[in-house]
This record gives sequence, structure tokens and C-alpha cells, in this order.
Amino acid sequence: MDIQARIQNAMERHFHQVLSASTPPTLKAAMQHAVFPGGARIRPQLCTAVAMVCGEDDTSLTDAGAVALELMHCASLVHDDMPAFDNALLRRGQTTVHAEFSEPIALLTGDALIVMAYQVLLSQRAQVRSSAAHSQRLLEMMDILSQGVGAPSGIVAGQAWECETKVDLWQYQRAKTGALFSASTSLGAVAAGANPAPWHVLGESLGDAYQIADDIRDVIGHMDMIGKPVGQDAEHGRPSAAQALGLEGANSQFKHLIDTAAKSVPDCVGRDLLRGMIFKESERLVPQQAYQAYLQTHQRTQVSMA
Ligand code: IPE
Ligand code: IPE
Ligand code: MG
Ligand code: MG
Repeated sequence: MDIQARIQNAMERHFHQVLSASTPPTLKAAMQHAVFPGGARIRPQLCTAVAMVCGEDDTSLTDAGAVALELMHCASLVHDDMPAFDNALLRRGQTTVHAEFSEPIALLTGDALIVMAYQVLLSQRAQVRSSAAHSQRLLEMMDILSQGVGAPSGIVAGQAWECETKVDLWQYQRAKTGALFSASTSLGAVAAGANPAPWHVLGESLGDAYQIADDIRDVIGHMDMIGKPVGQDAEHGRPSAAQALGLEGANSQFKHLIDTAAKSVPDCVGRDLLRGMIFKESERLVPQQAYQAYLQTHQRTQVSMA
């Protein structure tokens, strides 16, 4: 089974295991809407790939970690799209949760998905009970996930920087996006019983690259390409790499971070496979042909206006 299919199976299995028939139907439908169909599922892919190359010996522990990461990510998107934040109407090509179901339901959907992430990890209790080492892994995974999401430097902190008047762009981006990427590589290593430290640079540089790519796509993309509105960073006055470095500066920084990520993959059996995944993902994020085409059209427009 390939990684995408494995993640899809695990997502569906855990989602339906946690939610019973007694869940309020609108909440259940909204949670379903927030999680299925998914986006790129990049965080669980990263977690699973790292666990695999670390020689995983407990696939259900890896799957639970991967699902928990994606649920946290989905929760953050539901909240991020709400009127209190980005007030967005489209996500992954479909109506956002608050627009489809109401603001109270969107707030509760995000909350329920955050709690569900821990419920999924806790569902592994019985399985790891017989092994002290595996129980320890589970605890560590919960710790890593919490750091990627909460204060002082996870997603919640990242979103909170938007309420400050003085913001360091890189601290803001690393918290709102990078932290969950770092958590993804660490979680994969820990699920496999490996040391997470050698995987730190990979998570961090990919996370940094990912938010820069998101900022570039917000400028050069279109709704069909990214499945969400464009021009949002400028509209909401959000600090963005495209605005801070210019489009070309942001693209060079993006490519540099992708290179750093690829070079950082520790010596292991699946090293070339992982590197291949990184370069493929980089091209999906910022297709260089589309980027060049945008630059040419844009520069031509500027020249003809001068
Ligand atoms: C979007 O994340 C929000 C950011 C943190 C940049 P993704 O680009 O991973 O969104 P999906 O999951 O593929 O929709
Ligand atoms: C949001 O960043 C990151 C989150 C933690 C949700 P953005 O606001 O740039 O993400 P998009 O563009 O809405 O996906
Ligand atoms: Mg947003
Ligand atoms: Mg964005």
C-alpha cells in the first residue's frame, strides 16, 4: 500500500472510531467536511515516511501519530478561515466550515478536532501497555504534538502573533507553520523508536519552505490552482515572505530551504526516496514554469505601464 492510501485508510478508521452515532449530526457533518476530502496530507506523509526509513516496528503507532497531526492541521484551517481571522469562504475547493455550517459550529469543529487528535493517540493505550518502551513513545508523541500546536511556539502562538503590532516574520511563520512540520518529522522518528534529533533540520527547513511557498502561491496562484482565495495576505495586511523579500527573493529563499531540507536527510536506507519526495513536493508547491510565466507577464505589464 502506498503512503497516501495508508494515510487515507488510517484517517477514515480513526475518525469513525472516535465519533459515534450519538454525535450531534451537524457537528459530525462539519467535522467530516473539515477532514474529508483532504488536501495534500503533507504532514502525515512526512511523519510516515520518516517512521518507515527509521525502521518502524509498530505501524499503528505511526498511523495514530500521522492522523493526529493531520487533525490538528485541519482544526487550524477551520479556525483560520473564520471571520475572526482570515474570513475565507473557500478551502480545498469547497465552502469553508463556518460558511457552510455557521460560526458556532466552526468554532466547535476546530475544538473537537483538536481533542480528537489526542483521542486518536490515546486509542493506542491498550496496544502499548505491554511494553514500557512503547508507552514511553506514546507519551513523547503527545508532548511533541502539543509543542507543535500550543504556546509558546506552536500554531496557536503563530496565529496570536497576528494580534501584535510588532512581529518578527520568521518567528511568526515558524510558529504558525514550521512547528507542525518539525513535529511531523520528530513524531515519525519517535513512533519508530528512533532519536528525533537528526530529523529536526528536515522538519524545520521544510516548514519554513512551506510557508514561503504558501505566500508565493497567494501572489502568483489562482483559485483553481490552490483551492482557496488568492491575495489574502495583502488584503489582511499579513506579514508575508513575498512582501518582505519580493517575489524573486522569496523564490530563492524557498529553493534554498528545499535544498537544505534534502541535504539534511540523515544517512539511511530510504534517503534517496525521501529526497525525491521533497523535490517532487517542491515542484507541486511552486511550479517553476508557472512562477516564471507570472514574472514575465507581470514585468511586461509594469514596463507597458511605465
Ligand atoms: C495550508 O496548509 C496552510 C499553511 C499552513 C500553509 P496546506 O497547504 O498543507 O493545506 P492542505 O492540507 O494541503 O489543504
Ligand atoms: C495559516 O496561514 C496557517 C495556519 C496555521 C492555519 P495562512 O493563513 O497563510 O494559510 P492559508 O493561506 O489560509 O491556507
Ligand atoms: Mg488563512
Ligand atoms: Mg496563506
